[in-house]
Amino acid sequence: MTILYCAKYNCIKDTTQFEPGASNFKRRNMDRLKEKIMSRKSVRTFDARPLLEQHLNDIKEYIKDIPNPFDIPVEFVLLDAKEYGLSSPVLSGEQLYVAGKVEKKPYADVAFGYSFEKLIMHAWDLGIGTVMIGGTMKRDLFEAAAGVKSGDMMPCVSPLGYPAGKRSVKEIMMRKGVGADSRISSYKLFFKDEWGKALTPDDDMAEILEMVRWAPSAVNKQPWRIILKDGIYHFYEKKDKGYASDATGDLQKTDLGIALAHFVMGVEDKGKRAEVTVSDPGFNIPNDAEYIASVKIC
Ligand SMILES: Cc1cc2nc3c(=O)[nH]c(=O)nc-3n(C[C@H](O)[C@H](O)[C@H](O)COP(=O)(O)O)c2cc1C
Repeated sequence: MTILYCAKYNCIKDTTQFEPGASNFKRRNMDRLKEKIMSRKSVRTFDARPLLEQHLNDIKEYIKDIPNPFDIPVEFVLLDAKEYGLSSPVLSGEQLYVAGKVEKKPYADVAFGYSFEKLIMHAWDLGIGTVMIGGTMKRDLFEAAAGVKSGDMMPCVSPLGYPAGKRSVKEIMMRKGVGADSRISSYKLFFKDEWGKALTPDDDMAEILEMVRWAPSAVNKQPWRIILKDGIYHFYEKKDKGYASDATGDLQKTDLGIALAHFVMGVEDKGKRAEVTVSDPGFNIPNDAEYIASVKIC
């Protein structure tokens, strides 16, 4: 079993409420992360303001290196919408995009989702709205602007901007269409010992799994499934048809990277480490499912 990644303890700072040594420190951090994850929504209607200079500089610094458990570099490029003539039929008021590029290789899509989601959550912390866009854009234009080379892929881009006071009608319709305000029940996603046998987690794990449950996914399909066995959380992709192409990779594997990022963030926020490995335990799983990775909490 190869250890690919041992995530470092990296809790989110709560500068206003920190009481050193108090047992409620962890509690507050957890509440804050949970609140951050639960409050994040895709934003498709922006107020047309450019990013504040300090926010732009912060993002420029952050995107230089967003590691993932698979040690696959994901490169991020900022693109001015006007300069490159970029738009998306589902967006309004956006001025700036970020595009992510990754070399095509096994686990590139999972790594991409992990690193991109770290950026999404970082931006949300600054009050910047985002939405991963894998389909609803003129892909050729974005790929040319981002300088995607042969052998690389650009699964998604996202606008970066401040949410408008009111969602556009097209955004409201879009959210309704994919049921963006609901998620699959946890007993259908998280299993104990075998596929399909519902897991009853303790309170801490229930919180972390809730953070996974509310992760964003392409068309809100939530393709992640987890089997807990002998203290290890094994992640699977439950595939739907039509989400994989040469240009995007498998967008549902990108979703799995996102789910993994939420899980690891939740674990780290508990002051623990998450060891991510790729070692298929060989459980009996449905034909349309695929093993992705395992996480041991230590
Ligand atoms: C990999 C990926 C690709 C996505 N592609 C699109 C897209 O092409 N167009 C779009 O409007 N939303 C897209 N979304 C946003 C999802 O529709 C959205 O995350 C989901 O409906 C859940 O809503 P929420 O993010 O507000 O929780 C994508 C999300 C992910 C994770």
